[in-house]
Parts: sequence; structure tokens; C-alpha cells
Amino acid sequence: RQPKDSPLYPLLEAATQFFKQALRNHPAKTKAVEYLKKRGLSGEIARDFGLGFAPPGWDNLMQHLGGDSLQQKALIDAGLVVDNAESGRRYDRFRDRIMFPIRDSRGRVIAFGGRVLGDDKPKYLNSPETPVFHKGQELYGLYEACQHNRQLNELIVVEGYMDVIALAQQGLRNAVATLGTSTSEEHLKRMFRLVPQVLFCFDGDKAGRAAAWRALEAALPTLEDGRKVRFLFLPEGEDPDTLIRAEGLDAFQARIVQHGMPLADYFFQQLSREADPQSLEGKAHFATLAAPMINKVPGEKLRSLMLKRVSELTGLDSSDLEIPAKPAGEND
Ligand code: UTP
Ligand code: MN
Ligand code: MN
Ligand code: MN
Ligand code: MN
Repeated sequence: RQPKDSPLYPLLEAATQFFKQALRNHPAKTKAVEYLKKRGLSGEIARDFGLGFAPPGWDNLMQHLGGDSLQQKALIDAGLVVDNAESGRRYDRFRDRIMFPIRDSRGRVIAFGGRVLGDDKPKYLNSPETPVFHKGQELYGLYEACQHNRQLNELIVVEGYMDVIALAQQGLRNAVATLGTSTSEEHLKRMFRLVPQVLFCFDGDKAGRAAAWRALEAALPTLEDGRKVRFLFLPEGEDPDTLIRAEGLDAFQARIVQHGMPLADYFFQQLSREADPQSLEGKAHFATLAAPMINKVPGEKLRSLMLKRVSELTGLDSSDLEIPAKPAGEND
């Protein structure tokens, strides 16, 4: 899927080093360092995640790596330099931002996220799709989580860079983020190759709750028996970063134990809101919504237990809810 020996890899690595150096040495580094401190991050965590600083100015990186037109072309391909066709101008994409290198599962830097130090917009700027970066497939922090833990049992999926890093700072070194895209089946397959358990912990707001339901939909086709998906819903206005910094590691972990909601519980809670199985019409609606979703579950035990629950709630026979398995070869 990704070109094995793309010349973009060494270029992205060189950029990572440049941003790291700037965080240590650039005359404007102070406000970047202060910003990271204000967000509760230690030098050790900044180092573990390779955080850097893109200094203010239009062409710092270009000047540093620039060179001939071939090199310039590579910088554009890597998403590090913007080539504005209209104005004919070329300039660094990331300027005056905290830099988060995004690594693939082998540890190669494939892209960056950059955060403004204040309240400017956009808050985060990300690398565009490039020959080595395909947004919908990557999980920020996965490489770092694997590096830090010899054996992983569970991954925590959060929304943002700072959530991953804040959890790591407090001692939870198993968080990953989907980089502003919704969780895909691809993401889940990738995680389940490494761990049997996934916990989704999105922001306590409307967008976060919508992301949770989409994650459930993406998870259904990956639910082999023995795999476990849970959801932790945060108080309104909190995200994993703000919450774990406010209440600390122990309270956060206790919250996961007490309120981490198994996927099936979340599923039935939401569907009952959508279609109240009190009236016969409600029961019919409920079964119509539930059955096609449950039939996506490959784990036979879980699928049959969930269908049984629908049957209890609606009075319909389990056998009326099953979709006969497609003959081999017709599965998509
Ligand atoms: P949030 O808006 O929840 O930001 O976006 P955050 O991570 O809590 O940011 P802080 O705490 O203010 O630093 C969640 C994620 O969505 C993507 C980023 O990956 C971000 O981490 N995002 C958000 C963007 O790509 N661009 C944006 O302008 C905002
Ligand atoms: Mn995706
Ligand atoms: Mn948010
Ligand atoms: Mn957030
Ligand atoms: Mn945040």
C-alpha cells in the first residue's frame, strides 16, 4: 500500500529533526516550551513523542532542507511545502506551530500535525494526503504505544493528539487517536491484530457522541468472539486531556472500570431511544433497526446473544431476526 523506499521518508525524518532542534535552540523557542509546560507536559514525554516546533517565518524549513528544484519538489510531495499555483509562491506549510510527528507502525514519520500556540485558526493543521500518508488508515500514537509496552492488552481510542499525549503523561501509555477522521473498520482491524480490547473515549460533546456511534458501526463487523469493545462517555465539556489532568490517573482508571460501557449495552441503550419497544409498532421498528446491524457481527456467540436480547425485547423469534449466511464467495 505504501511505497517501500520512498525518498519522502528520509525527508520527513530530516524535517522531524529540524522541528525538534528548533524546540531546543530557536530564538523563538521560549513560547513553545512555555506552551507545552502550560499543558502539563514534561520534557520526557515531549521526547518520547518527538514533539517539535515550526518557527515563525515563511521558509525556515525550505531554507534548511531546500536545495535544488528536485528537493523542492520532494518537499511539496511530502506536504511540507505549499506550492501556490495562483501566486507562484512557495512556502512552509507549518509555521509557528507545535509539531506532532505522525509515525507509521514501523516508526517512520509519514506526516505531521501542527498546533497553533494560541487561539488562531485552524487550531490544528495536518499534512495533506501524500504517497506515504493515508489519513483514514493511520492511528496517531500506535507506534509509541507499542514501543513503550512489550505486551498490550487494550488500546484507548481518543480524538486528538493532546489527548494521547496527556494520557501518556499521566501513565496511560496505550492511547491512540484517529486524527480528526472517524474510526474506520480498517482502524479496528489494525488494533485487533495487536490487542483483544478497545476502549473508545471521545470528547464529552455532541461531536464526540456522534463519533462514538460511528465507531460502534465500524466495530460491528470486526467483533469476533473474545474481542471486547467498550465506550467511556465523558462529562459534558471534558476531553481525556482535561479530565485526567483534573482528576488524576487513579480516578480516571476507576471511571473506566465503573463507567466503561460494553458495546452491546451502548447499542441497546441507543436503539431503545430511537425506537421504544413498548408498543408493537415500536417493537417492529426496534427489530428492523437492530437486526441488520447485529447480523454484521461475525462472532457467533455474541451475535446470537444480541439477537436473543432483541427477541426478549420485542417478542419476535430469534430465527425471524437472523439473515441466512451468504454462500461463500458472496461476502463483501
Ligand atoms: P479537538 O477540537 O477536540 O481538539 O479536535 P483537541 O485535541 O482537544 O485540541 P486542544 O486540546 O485544544 O489542543 C480533536 C482532533 O481533531 C483534529 C486534530 O487531530 C485534533 O487533535 N483537528 C481539530 C484538526 O485536524 N483540525 C482542527 O482545526 C481541529
Ligand atoms: Mn478513518
Ligand atoms: Mn472536540
Ligand atoms: Mn478535544
Ligand atoms: Mn483538548
